[in-house]
Formats: sequence, C-alpha cells, structure tokens
Amino acid sequence: MASTTEKQVALITGSSRGIGRVLALKLAAKGTDLVINYKSNRELAEQTLEDVRAAGADGIVVQADIEEPDDIEAMFQTIKERFGKLDAFVANAAASAFKPVSQLKLHHLDRNWAMNVRSFVLGAQRAVELMPEAGGRIVVVTSYGSLRAFPTYASLGAAKAANEAYVKFMATEFGPRNITVNAVNGGLIDTDSLEFFYSRVPGMAPMQSVIEKVPLGRPGTADDMASAIEFLLSPSAGYITGQTLSVDGGLTVVAPPFWADTTGDLRASVFGSEG
Ligand SMILES: NC(=O)c1ccc[n+]([C@@H]2O[C@H](COP(=O)([O-])OP(=O)(O)OC[C@H]3O[C@@H](n4cnc5c(N)ncnc54)[C@H](OP(=O)(O)O)[C@@H]3O)[C@@H](O)[C@H]2O)c1
Repeated sequence: MASTTEKQVALITGSSRGIGRVLALKLAAKGTDLVINYKSNRELAEQTLEDVRAAGADGIVVQADIEEPDDIEAMFQTIKERFGKLDAFVANAAASAFKPVSQLKLHHLDRNWAMNVRSFVLGAQRAVELMPEAGGRIVVVTSYGSLRAFPTYASLGAAKAANEAYVKFMATEFGPRNITVNAVNGGLIDTDSLEFFYSRVPGMAPMQSVIEKVPLGRPGTADDMASAIEFLLSPSAGYITGQTLSVDGGLTVVAPPFWADTTGDLRASVFGSEG
C-alpha cells in the first residue's frame, strides 16, 4: 500500500480462516484496517475480526458469496459507506470441483469461472473505483495448477492461469493510477483445503508422495503465503507489477527423475547415508 500516514484499508476475500486469516492478522499488526469476508463461517470471521482488534487495528465482517455478482456489489457498497476508500484488494477465496476433465459438467465449468475468475475481475473493477489518488494494491492468490498438470485440478488450475493472465492486463491498465497488480502462486500449503484435496478426493495420491518431491522437503504454511502477499502489498514492492511470485518450496522447478527416487551413493550424496 502507498506510503502515507493515513489509515490503510484492505479487503481480503475468504479471511475467516486459512491464508486469508493469517494475512489479516499480519496487516492488522501494521495498523491496517480490515474487511473480513466469508461465505458461511460467521463465527470464524468474527473471531478473525476480534483478533484484528487485539492486534491494534479495526475492521468489519462482510458476508458475501463471491460467486454472486450482487453479493460482490453489496460488499463494495458496504466498504464505500464504512471507509469511503480501499487501499488493497486481495482476491484470496477459491473453490472448485476436483474431477478429471472428462467428468467436468456444464455447471462445474460455469461455477468455476464465476467463483474463481469472474469474482476477481468484478472485484478488481470495484476496488479500483475506491482506490485513492496515491494508488493501491491488488493481489490475487493462485496455485501451481496454473503451471503444472496433476490429477483432478484442471478446472481450478485453468482458472488460476486465467487470473495470472488478467494480472498482466490489469497491471498495464491500472499502472498509470499507481495501482500494482500481482499474483502469489502457492504450492502445497497446509490449510483446510489441502487436507480436503488429499483426504476427500477419492483415489488421490498420498500427500507424502508429493511432499518428498518438494526441494524444501515440507509443505508451505499459511504464514509463508501471507508473508509474500504482505510484501507485495507493502511500499517496498511499489515498482513490482504484473508478476506472479511462486511460494512453493521449489515444487515447480523439479521434474522427473526426482531426487526422491534416486538410490545408492547418488542418493546418499544429497540425503546422507540415513536418507
Ligand atoms: N491450501 C493450499 O494448498 C493452497 C495452495 C495454493 C494456493 N491456494 C490458494 O490460496 C487461497 C486460500 O486458500 P486456503 O487454503 O487458505 O482456503 P481455506 O482455508 O479453504 O479457506 C477458504 C476461505 O474462502 C472462503 N470462501 C469459500 N468460498 C467462498 C465464497 N463463495 N465466497 C466468499 N468466500 C468464500 C471461506 O469462507 P468460509 O469460512 O465462510 O467457508 C474461507 O474464508 C485460495 O485461492 C487457494 O486456491 C491454496
């Protein structure tokens, strides 16, 4: 957000839990007021707001299903009435069906577009209208399915790729208003949705078989993601726009054959004799 003494206001979609919640608390600790958005978990959203206040900032909770354009419109109207402006918009909430391409039905395709892509574009349009002359920040949270293909992730991966393309177009269009637009692309990040993907999608490969391929050898945390987003929202990132920053422990730079599958002296040379 722009370097100014005025109180900053940030909207994070899906900040009742997961990455959005951790980011809200980080921003609150720096004095930014928060708009906490959620779909169903009112209690968790209220808890986030309580924690935001404990961290020294203020904010509001707004229920809005971002799949619904009317809900998006109403959320921004509430922000306008309460704060009169918006300094940062973080498009974080996401949801999709996890199915092979051959099983994606019309309603899966339409809902995926509405939830994950249309909501970002409509939100960015409204956010820009509320951003002050000093400028603003937009960050969309994407995932490595925009870059790599793995089972059942086509629908969400394609939406994330569309968001990363929109980031470039928005960066060129909003740049003259000193508004930066970037994406933060996560690998395996330890939240409810990661748990859902590996334990509730029938037949999914074991999570451990993926974690062992990650060069840093562990899943990321919500804090890893929130730290990268916080940086892109900060004055320090004022000359970065149109970019996608990967926070994936190196997952998207590896390719088969994997170090995890090597044996003998070669394996020991990297993992040690116990590895
Ligand atoms: N976890 C990972 O492994 C991972 C990896 C890479 C990227 N990402 C991305 O990171 C972002 C956040 O993921 P997360 O894992 O932190 O999510 P999460 O823990 O599953 O939380 C999802 C949040 O989105 C909200 N939400 C869901 N549907 C909504 C809707 N229709 N309208 C408004 N809010 C809605 C939820 O609200 P309620 O509490 O009310 O349901 C909740 O606050 C997503 O864009 C995801 O694709 C995640």
